[in-house]
Amino acid sequence: MIEDTDQRIVGAAPAGARDRESAAAAVREMFTSIAPRYDLLNHVLSCNIDRLWWWRTARRFDAILKRPEARVLDLCCGTGDMAFALRRRAGSGNPQILGADFSHAMLQRAAAKGKGTTLRPPQWIEADALRLPFPDGYFNLVTSAFGFRNLADYDAGLREIVRVLAPGGECGILDFGEPDGVLGHVYRVYFKHVLPKIGTMLSGVRGPYAYLPASVERFPAPDEMLGRMRQAGFGEASWTPYTFGIAGLYRGLKHA
Ligand SMILES: C[S@@+](CC[C@H](N)C(=O)[O-])C[C@H]1O[C@@H](n2cnc3c(N)ncnc32)[C@H](O)[C@@H]1O
Repeated sequence: MIEDTDQRIVGAAPAGARDRESAAAAVREMFTSIAPRYDLLNHVLSCNIDRLWWWRTARRFDAILKRPEARVLDLCCGTGDMAFALRRRAGSGNPQILGADFSHAMLQRAAAKGKGTTLRPPQWIEADALRLPFPDGYFNLVTSAFGFRNLADYDAGLREIVRVLAPGGECGILDFGEPDGVLGHVYRVYFKHVLPKIGTMLSGVRGPYAYLPASVERFPAPDEMLGRMRQAGFGEASWTPYTFGIAGLYRGLKHA
């Protein structure tokens, strides 16, 4: 956790990061280094459950996605799978869907995957989630899948989401959690000891797959995260566990 003396800042802190800027730079470098194998690793390490989680998340926002005039932003979109899941759910609703990420290499993969699809693909934009290049109140829906946890300042990230949401707009943050009980124990062994080894072997890069369990451990538990969402300006906030709490969806509503 990175702290500053005036205000306690809570966010991702990859090894060696001293402040928000160096943390963000390390995160960007890390994802850029694994971009070529990111999709393969995601599917292998999650045993393909990631596809189910993206689909479940997209389904929760059907009402917005079916509106033709809706504007949707998928933050920290990476290689685009959450944005594509939103696109498929929208069907002929055809809202404007943007995917934003600060790793150019990840966006290049997303753009390549969009070619040849029959539905209008999402548009991709290189941008920092903490300084979004969009006016206040622009979007009806903002999502982020497994990206929010990597922000160097969670509260600033939440405030930025609230800022770009229109009144009545919704936010969905899908991210990992830490299940309780026996399953939690088994899961922690897998996540901390098995996953980093497979990840390092398949990607050929050492750091990122040790950072992953550390970043999940650092991420606020649901009660704390919901408090932070309300503090940032969401009128309503809720959490739905997925797959025994290995992942979960935070939903926030910006009151009209
Ligand atoms: C674990 S990947 C998730 C990608 C994708 N959403 C998915 O579900 O597979 C996290 C992504 O967040 C991006 N990211 C992290 N911090 C960011 C920031 N401050 N601004 C924009 N993108 C960021 C990284 O570049 C990376 O592509």
